[in-house]
Amino acid sequence: MPATKTGEGVSGLFKRIYNNIFSQQELATIKDEYIIECENLVKIYKIADQEVFALQGLELKIKKGEMVGIIGSSGSGKSTLLNILGGLDTPTGGRAFVNGWNINKMSYRDKILYKRDTIGFVWQNPSRNLVPYLTALENVQLPMILKGQGQDKAWARELLEAVGLSDWISHKPAEMSGGQQQRVAIAVALANRPAILLGDEPTGSLDSKTGAEIFQVFKRVSREYGTTVIVVTHDRSLAGAVDRAVEIRDGKISTESVRNIDLDYSNIDYTAAGDETHSKYVVVDSAGRLQIPEEYLKELGIKDKAILEKEDNKVLIKSPENKNSK
Ligand SMILES: Nc1ncnc2c1ncn2[C@@H]1O[C@H](COP(=O)(O)OP(=O)(O)OP(=O)(O)O)[C@@H](O)[C@H]1O
Ligand SMILES: [Mg+2]
Repeated sequence: MPATKTGEGVSGLFKRIYNNIFSQQELATIKDEYIIECENLVKIYKIADQEVFALQGLELKIKKGEMVGIIGSSGSGKSTLLNILGGLDTPTGGRAFVNGWNINKMSYRDKILYKRDTIGFVWQNPSRNLVPYLTALENVQLPMILKGQGQDKAWARELLEAVGLSDWISHKPAEMSGGQQQRVAIAVALANRPAILLGDEPTGSLDSKTGAEIFQVFKRVSREYGTTVIVVTHDRSLAGAVDRAVEIRDGKISTESVRNIDLDYSNIDYTAAGDETHSKYVVVDSAGRLQIPEEYLKELGIKDKAILEKEDNKVLIKSPENKNSK
């Protein structure tokens, strides 16, 4: 925790925290454990006089170096969350702290620096990630040149090696498969050593096997460089490839599935997701709210009201029609 300045007191200290006027070093010490903290995040899109609630009080904490998968049906708010975390969109309400930055309080210039230095993005469409007329090596060097820090060839080569493409550095995207192009895209996203790598359905155009391989690449670079990785996917079978898979439903995190033990990653089957590898939890937010799975609601005939009963060390949720059932 940073120290208070003379005369400002604790309230002054907190004011400085929320106004985002700490140095990066100071901020790094504030949020040591969690690199991302979303509190009651709300995003409302307005189209004509219609309002779309894309995020409805989303709460999420992510630890440094963690690899988190975000799963959810179409329109649940996955891209909205990623765009906010990536500095491409701003929340309507709530707060988000990312790597010491207060997302709500960033100036235009802060956002440029944040997007350049803190975040690496991998998109679903390889053509959005890569420049077609540049080789793999040149694509990786491009973000470094744009940052004005030369074109560290050794680092670009190392990254291409880390994503398994040491023999492809002189090839252009059109000469590579979709999976290889996404590997290059991961290397490009890591070029400026971001703390966080965001992937919005980066395996969406790939078959399941290639998708699983790309998840392994994300995992490898996360371990190798300590990068925090957040990957959106439609493919539930890939949930086993991550440390934690969180499910978004209607703009809120509803459940999460957490890897039980830190397995030996050298020979782990990344696609294995089951009761032995992961524990599944329903998420209870800071206001005590939780989401009951839709199939349970249907099966139990629960519509707008339910009965809550505490029994020993458990809580029962029942339909009002089954009030007296056990
Ligand atoms: N720019 C926008 N303007 C208006 N509404 C938007 C905008 N972006 C997203 N939405 C709406 O917000 C909701 C969440 O959208 P979002 O793109 O985050 O979903 P998603 O989970 O990424 O879906 P998909 O799996 O299809 O990519 C949807 O109802 C969507 O129509
Ligand atoms: Mg999306």
